[in-house]
Amino acid sequence: MIKIIKTIIIIFSLCFTFYANAETVEEIIKGRKALFSKNYSSAKRVQALSSKGEFEKAKKLMLKMSENYKTLINYFPDNTKEGFKTEALPIIWENKDEFNALMTKSSNDMIKLTSIIEDTESVDEVRAVLTKMMWGNCKACHSKFRAPH
Ligand code: HEC
Repeated sequence: MIKIIKTIIIIFSLCFTFYANAETVEEIIKGRKALFSKNYSSAKRVQALSSKGEFEKAKKLMLKMSENYKTLINYFPDNTKEGFKTEALPIIWENKDEFNALMTKSSNDMIKLTSIIEDTESVDEVRAVLTKMMWGNCKACHSKFRAPH
């Protein structure tokens, strides 16, 4: 009788552990996708606001993007290499230092942008600065670390 109860408890805890882990991996992958999507809409807003000279509003979003990049560094643990339609490539985990450095650079560039953007004097200049310091970082990382989509 005790043996049966023990077995049942073990099966239950195994199911629970599996369920808990599955949940976590799903949450992490969906969580990072949501953060990237958020940064994408923020980036488009930053572009639109800066082109209109609304730098104060743009700067708030830049800082938010910078924070999101820092948070994203923790969203790539070893157990999240596949599943849930992730577009993250295995090369991320083979070059974790390079990947994290790109994330940190992207974060720092958004902070630098908050001061640089004020000195722009034309829509063309805004576009050039954002291409270099915002969109350029997306591209640099995606071309190596994200699957073609
Ligand atoms: C240091 C690397 C890195 C940088 C910088 C980066 N991304 Fe990504 N991005 C990724 C990876 C990796 C994925 C795939 C995540 C996944 O599917 O698990 C991704 C996914 C995305 C997605 C898809 C989200 C989804 O719902 O599937 C969008 C949109 C996106 N990025 C936009 C951007 C934009 C816009 C920028 C720049 C403003 C940017 N990313 C900067 C690495 C990066």
